[in-house]
Amino acid sequence: MYNTVDTLNEFIIERQADFPYAKGELSRLLTHIALAAKVVNREVNQAGLVDILGTTGDINVQGETVQKLDDFANTKFAIALKGSSECCGIATEESQDIIKFDTDMAKDGKYIICIDPLDGSSNIDVNVSIGTIFSIYRRISPRGHVAQLQDFLQEGTKQVAAGYIIYGSSTMLVYTTGRGVNGFTLAPSIGEFCLSHRDIQIPLNGSIISANEGYYKQFSAGVRRYLDYCKDIDEETNRPYSSRYIGSLVADFHRNLLKGGIYMYPPTEKFKTGKLRLIYEANPMAMLVEQAGGMAVDHDGGRIMDLVPNDLHQRVPLYIGSRNMVEKLNDFIEEEEEQK
Ligand code: AHG
Ligand code: MN
Ligand code: MN
Repeated sequence: MYNTVDTLNEFIIERQADFPYAKGELSRLLTHIALAAKVVNREVNQAGLVDILGTTGDINVQGETVQKLDDFANTKFAIALKGSSECCGIATEESQDIIKFDTDMAKDGKYIICIDPLDGSSNIDVNVSIGTIFSIYRRISPRGHVAQLQDFLQEGTKQVAAGYIIYGSSTMLVYTTGRGVNGFTLAPSIGEFCLSHRDIQIPLNGSIISANEGYYKQFSAGVRRYLDYCKDIDEETNRPYSSRYIGSLVADFHRNLLKGGIYMYPPTEKFKTGKLRLIYEANPMAMLVEQAGGMAVDHDGGRIMDLVPNDLHQRVPLYIGSRNMVEKLNDFIEEEEEQK
């Protein structure tokens, strides 16, 4: 006897009916992402056992040290996406330029993917949750040819799907195709992602703030005032809020999505336009949060998904999470601007 479970593959096929003109390409692409996720998960799980910990000694395009697992995840996802034949190219955190897949099958692919193969790299060596973030767009350039840069510089509103994998106390894949957000937990014994979180809704109000408060003094006056407000005692609004910051966007976002909260990465001295990358970190999370009823804006209160990217690795300030919390923070930032 076993309980019936909806596996990711079954769910993807069922949901295909939501898109009457879909021919299954997106479904196949998602299936390949899930497969690569399992391979990466296997390595993440044994990171302490095999000689995969530590750095490769290389510096990536962001000027950061590349971890072996960054490299590993990047390669595995690239192979899976190329092999899916539905994807003509990718933009990844680990490469300066887009990667064009040049097989005949891939050139005919309808989609492109923006990916952060390993998010939260600084947490790998200390056994803290890390993740993968992905975003899928329909290409603009004609099929039958290699992908072009313009395919990757589309507004977030053009995403056809977005999601992440969290390698945590259990491994989950959470994704949206624009009809709500669903979460799947990997059942290690059968090697399948099983539907565990149906139609996720982020609470309108939350009581968790996630920010690297080590940079508090570098934040703008409005952001600082909001953080002070969060620490004030007020029974009616359930303050003070709790502070939770892991330093892996995926893990911080995932917790806030389920429990309610706000994640923020404001401009700092070092990262004057914020640290997080628009196309493979902010946009996919923005699509997920909006699909779950939340909100994602930049420092001017502009919707993240409306921004027109002009660079693959463009950074953006990010305020994302429960709608009422993001709006409140926005009010504080606006007030600060008015006083200037
Ligand atoms: P990545 O590991 O892909 O480079 O991303 C790290 C990002 C994000 O995951 C995290 O929230 C943020 O950097 C943490 O930055 P700080 O250490 O400056 O707080
Ligand atoms: Mn990242
Ligand atoms: Mn990364």
